[in-house]
Amino acid sequence: MGGIAMSEVDYADVQGLVRFGYGHLTSASYALVRVKDVAAAKAWLRAAPVTSALEQKPPPKTASNIAFTAPGLEALGIPDSVIAGFSHEFRGGMAEQSRARQLGDVGDNAPSNWAWGSYGSEPHAVVMFFGEPNQFDSFVQTTKGSSWSDAFEDVTWLGTSNLDGNEPFGFADGISQPQIDWEQQRQTPVTQLQYTNITALGEFLLGYRNEYGKFTDWPLLEPDAASEGLLSAEDAPGKKDLGRNGTYLVMRQLEQDVRNFWQFLYQQTGGNLPEAAQLGAKMVGRTQEGAPLVPIQDESISGIDPKSAQQNQFTYESDPVGARCPFGAHIRRANPRNSDFPEQCLGALRKLIIMLGFGPKGFYDDLTSSVRFHRILRRGREYGSELSPEEALQQAPPNESPRGLHFICLNANISRQFEFLQNAWIMNTKFSGLTGESDPLLGNRESIPGCPDTSAFTMPKDASLRRRVSGLRQFVTVRGGAYFFLPSLRALRYFAGAANS
Ligand code: HEM
Repeated sequence: MGGIAMSEVDYADVQGLVRFGYGHLTSASYALVRVKDVAAAKAWLRAAPVTSALEQKPPPKTASNIAFTAPGLEALGIPDSVIAGFSHEFRGGMAEQSRARQLGDVGDNAPSNWAWGSYGSEPHAVVMFFGEPNQFDSFVQTTKGSSWSDAFEDVTWLGTSNLDGNEPFGFADGISQPQIDWEQQRQTPVTQLQYTNITALGEFLLGYRNEYGKFTDWPLLEPDAASEGLLSAEDAPGKKDLGRNGTYLVMRQLEQDVRNFWQFLYQQTGGNLPEAAQLGAKMVGRTQEGAPLVPIQDESISGIDPKSAQQNQFTYESDPVGARCPFGAHIRRANPRNSDFPEQCLGALRKLIIMLGFGPKGFYDDLTSSVRFHRILRRGREYGSELSPEEALQQAPPNESPRGLHFICLNANISRQFEFLQNAWIMNTKFSGLTGESDPLLGNRESIPGCPDTSAFTMPKDASLRRRVSGLRQFVTVRGGAYFFLPSLRALRYFAGAANS
């Protein structure tokens, strides 16, 4: 790894999941473990075949990556002074009471009901296995080896399924992702106002400049024998960089009630399945096949690959009142693109004033939080068997196995990226001037004293005439979750060797 200039990315030091979704490896499992024996765990980690982000031709047939929670680093004997360098939200954990409330994890979604990850019983690490189906089982067994059970106690193994690019409700998934500026060609901070899909490397990897042109807070160490193998910090001379080439990984087990979803849509449309599918598309913001509800624009958008233009070359500029894609649709909440700066509503000078934070208070407050500071890299996988809309209308057999999404996203700043998306956009009952609704797929419908009802979904037809569906049910329930740190390979070796093993 020597000889790499400081600002270039040393792909051999980055875990592969940051660069690749491993979509060609259709079998995958996530082992959530707790450290049983520190010395055995460190020995296992030192020998673990962790796949890097170096491009391989042909692509690998198997891959594995590893990430740790804060209690996991503690269990490995990493000193408190070192753990203190990680972000506040990582150290506090996803299930911390005030954080859980902010994320909408109350009622059925509350950590006290989770199958794994509740406060005080978080897993220590997740070991992610990917493989071609015919190699997968033997790869898992070989990688675990004979020392796995000495080193770790299994919390649970989360299996995944291959639904051919669809999520369990039956909509195409994994279409829109930010394009990472690996070469760091883009000038930061950025002053352009047009929507772009290119995102600064520092939004997804620690130790590089983010969209503000700054380094996101990350752990730096005083040099000593244990930190010898780490790189020197780029903008903090004399320090060793534990964060560089690592990132945070957010994991949530989201159970999807597919029957409830389709039965609700069917009832709302008077028993007409094609219309039910159209209502579902309004809720998602795309058709089941993945086509956006707003027209594809002629002008290219930087960072959108021409091959995916038919699905992704759009903003909400042509739909300022949400007549085609409702403001509350899942993808419009999760990435409003430029809907916070609709051309028709705002002139260039007004946009600039607002972007600089001098705009009027009230309706425009949200506009200062431009979307480029809130992108995430989604890396999750589905679980459970496929169920078509027709099948979903039937009664469930007894003891039906659950379906859902093992949601995984990568981000350098959990609070500004994942938590902002989840709290300010997805769960927000006042998003884009709406009232009494949150994300139609993910909203928590629990009636909580003092909290507004969230069971509506508004579909404007034009500026004045609206259709509003009410009585939305809880279609997605959180079953577990945790914040992890996905270290660089150098940092992994530090964790595996550092402190008293
Ligand atoms: C079971 C839960 C979920 C389901 C069924 C779901 C489904 C979908 C679907 C069908 C799409 C459109 C396909 C695409 O653009 O890739 C999508 C996009 C997206 N989702 Fe979700 N999602 C879920 C949870 C989440 C969560 C928890 C977040 C973040 C907190 C999230 C963030 C996003 C983002 C950022 C996009 C891309 C939007 C864009 O760039 O246009 N999703 N989701």
